[in-house]
Amino acid sequence: MSQNTILKDLFQVIQEYAQVIQNENEKVVDFTSPKDLANIISFPVDEEGISDEAFKDLMQKYLQYSARTGHKQFMNQLFSGLNLPAFAGDVLTSINNTSMYTYEVAPVATMIENEMIGLMSSFAGYKNGEGIFVTGGSNANLIAMFSARNHAYPQTKFNGIVPNSKLKAFVSEDAHYSYENAANILGIGAHNVVKVPVDKNGSMIPSELEKALKKSKSENEIPFFVGATCGTTVRAAFDPLDKLSVICQNNKIWFHADGAFGGSLIMSPKNHHLFKGLELTDSFAWDAHKLMNIPLISSVLLVKEKGTLKFNLSDINTDYIYHENSEIEDLGKKSIQCGRRVDAAKLWFAWKYYGLKGYAEKMDHLMDLAKYAESLVEKTEKLKMFVPRQSLTVCFRYIPEFSTNLDEFNFKIRENLRLKGKSLVNVAWINKTLVIRFIISNSESQRSDIDQFFKNFMLEASELEIQMNSENLESNDKNLIPTK
Ligand SMILES: Cc1ncc(COP(=O)(O)O)c(C=O)c1O
Repeated sequence: MSQNTILKDLFQVIQEYAQVIQNENEKVVDFTSPKDLANIISFPVDEEGISDEAFKDLMQKYLQYSARTGHKQFMNQLFSGLNLPAFAGDVLTSINNTSMYTYEVAPVATMIENEMIGLMSSFAGYKNGEGIFVTGGSNANLIAMFSARNHAYPQTKFNGIVPNSKLKAFVSEDAHYSYENAANILGIGAHNVVKVPVDKNGSMIPSELEKALKKSKSENEIPFFVGATCGTTVRAAFDPLDKLSVICQNNKIWFHADGAFGGSLIMSPKNHHLFKGLELTDSFAWDAHKLMNIPLISSVLLVKEKGTLKFNLSDINTDYIYHENSEIEDLGKKSIQCGRRVDAAKLWFAWKYYGLKGYAEKMDHLMDLAKYAESLVEKTEKLKMFVPRQSLTVCFRYIPEFSTNLDEFNFKIRENLRLKGKSLVNVAWINKTLVIRFIISNSESQRSDIDQFFKNFMLEASELEIQMNSENLESNDKNLIPTK
């Protein structure tokens, strides 16, 4: 096996794939059952290795049967797209294969991570802040809660949580599930995350937070963390940071903003109103792998006060790895990881390539596409918005002419689209009602891609409507047959 052959084949496979995902006639996913997949790809590792040719075949099959998240009809998740400058950064990161803990093994990457953290902190309005790349938005929320716990109770770092200590965290009822996992991991307990009601747009209601805090205190609990969201997972709603920050300040509680999904919108001045009060938060989570279309994972936790991250850690027996360096701080001293992938470089390459202006325009473009999608829903007969759109998610339903279970009907449309590989769009439940959750996150998409989605969707929906209507009639007919 020659390295040159692998590189040559790899390059060819990548080029073919990049063309496939840009071709709208290609499927977004070539859906294959696990049983069929096991027949197409040989998954077990054998005693003997394989030939160059067989290796190339595996590379091709890997891509052929994976969901094509860079395809313009992939609207299923909060991430998508193929960002080539970022991809180049990812490949360089991978071939160089270093770890972020020390400057001596990651000199360029350390400078890059510092630069990215500085830039992102300036967007957050943190003048004396710091931050760290983490393994996703969920973990950014975890480190935020970890920081809040250690801030309120530094002794827990060494002594652990006192049983029944009654620490309470507060998030909206639409907040991401990672908060509960964070409370679980930190020994606080998932049941000690209080869910604050939201308004009709999905934003946390400040007076309800106040009420919940008051109740908690009256029961001798210890509120220590409020987690707001900038772009909730289902509705893409923004919590009112300015109003919530006043409540947190009055109650002396750590105030975190989860911008894993919507955080990138802050790059565009047109969206600053959504983040009013962000500079008053104590920490901010921002996933670049979502709206900036950086390959997974590229995620940051920013904190307002320098020193917070190092203070979190117990710093025991690390002299085997960290040697005094007065010129620059080793970033590993701020991370709960030891080995840590370089996730900043792919972001930096992309940001350098597009520039600050380019990314601000991308965010405006996404908002424009979302507005356009909403307008299509509003003017299409049988489509109905389920909740108002706040930013990048359009939650709607198809209402057929005959009466049927709308949750099931809409789910079927989605399933048919998925199984045929036409469009991948997800569903979600809002107040026990199933909606189509159409997400705009690929800034390479154009209005024509949105048109194509609705064309695919309406075709599937009307076919299903005709089919189900005739099945209904048939069964009605059967009912009319007189029984002997
Ligand atoms: C609001 C919000 N926070 C956190 C997360 C978790 O982010 P990640 O998938 O990067 O862990 C998500 C993921 O969808 C999210 O929507």
